[in-house]
Amino acid sequence: MVGNNLSPYRLITDNLIMGINALSIDDFLSLDDAECERRIVAAKAALGERLVILGHHYQREEVFKHADFSGDSLKLSRQAAQSGAEYIVFCGVHFMAEVADILSAPEQIAILPDLAAGCSMADMADIEKVDKAWGELSAVLDPDQDVTPITYINSAADLKAFCGSHGGIVCTSSNAEKVLEWAFNQREKVLFFPDQHLGRNTGFRMGMRLEEMVTWDFDKPNGGLSEEDVRKAKIILWDGFCSVHQQFHSEHIDQFRASYPDGKVIAHPECAYEVCEKSDEVGSTELIIKKVKASAAGSRWLVGTEVNLVNRLAQECKAEGKFVHYMAPIVCMCSTMYRIDPQHLLWILENLVKGNVVNQIKVLPEIADQARLALERMLAVSY
Ligand code: 13P
Ligand code: SF4
Repeated sequence: MVGNNLSPYRLITDNLIMGINALSIDDFLSLDDAECERRIVAAKAALGERLVILGHHYQREEVFKHADFSGDSLKLSRQAAQSGAEYIVFCGVHFMAEVADILSAPEQIAILPDLAAGCSMADMADIEKVDKAWGELSAVLDPDQDVTPITYINSAADLKAFCGSHGGIVCTSSNAEKVLEWAFNQREKVLFFPDQHLGRNTGFRMGMRLEEMVTWDFDKPNGGLSEEDVRKAKIILWDGFCSVHQQFHSEHIDQFRASYPDGKVIAHPECAYEVCEKSDEVGSTELIIKKVKASAAGSRWLVGTEVNLVNRLAQECKAEGKFVHYMAPIVCMCSTMYRIDPQHLLWILENLVKGNVVNQIKVLPEIADQARLALERMLAVSY
């Protein structure tokens, strides 16, 4: 498995059009949002309990309002696993729909309204690079004895399968600490991919020193690390990051605190270490919403995560006399989440009403089996 160019993992993304009367996306792209809204409501009513729509917090409002369940990655994964619906339409990004396919029953169908809705961070690790890193680590230690691989849920299914087959596990931003605890109970080191920041921020909050966490530059031989660096490290962090959360800087927090000394700061753990260390609270999208909503009237918050979530939260909190500020002076939007628009959602739903499945996400069974193992380990430690 290690060190060859023929990866045993392959991914299939089916774009199936079943039935001869499938509707074309071209007939939907120019519809206005108001018409989409009316027709989405009608299509949902026609499909009834055969359909569930899951919406991530970063979805734009025109789509988010149609979700039957909203949440962070962990909550939506559980929802997908528990749903009995025939069609699981995931308004989120590619890896989320893959997880829905892996955790749902074989006869259930996971659908992503726009196949271009990927995650640039997830793309920073792939199976060839991770296989190569595993092989290079074996020159210094015995990775299958010494290293637990952890993949952030923001990753392709074949990386989850890699973790499943190497005694590893998946984590999300809301359970990373519990998952790291589990991992260190198995083996003395962790290889954490693809997000260095979630790994570093979580390790630091668990009491690890920054020097005990080294960064693996996947473009360099041996990750750009010496044998000693690897031997001394507790966590080997993949050099990946989220470009949206890179836009928040600790100076933004300083400016806010200078203007509002009583204000509170909350950030997503994909933000840089300096941002998280200056924040009062750090947590997943679900935790951010919970904390701000639970705060007293008159509270003021600076929030470091994607703009659609922050705008919605600000709107909801205004009525309760709370103030929500956006952390960056520029708009940091997840452009791939934004690919899911009402036009694509309507296209999917009206096709389903006619008996056509478009944009099904289907993971190859041999990958899904190993990936499920890593996901189930995660779900078991998250409760
Ligand atoms: P959450 O699991 O916190 O919702 O995060 C998902 C994500 O992609 C954040 O960028
Ligand atoms: Fe990926 Fe960042 Fe978008 Fe989250 S916000 S889906 S990590 S690109």
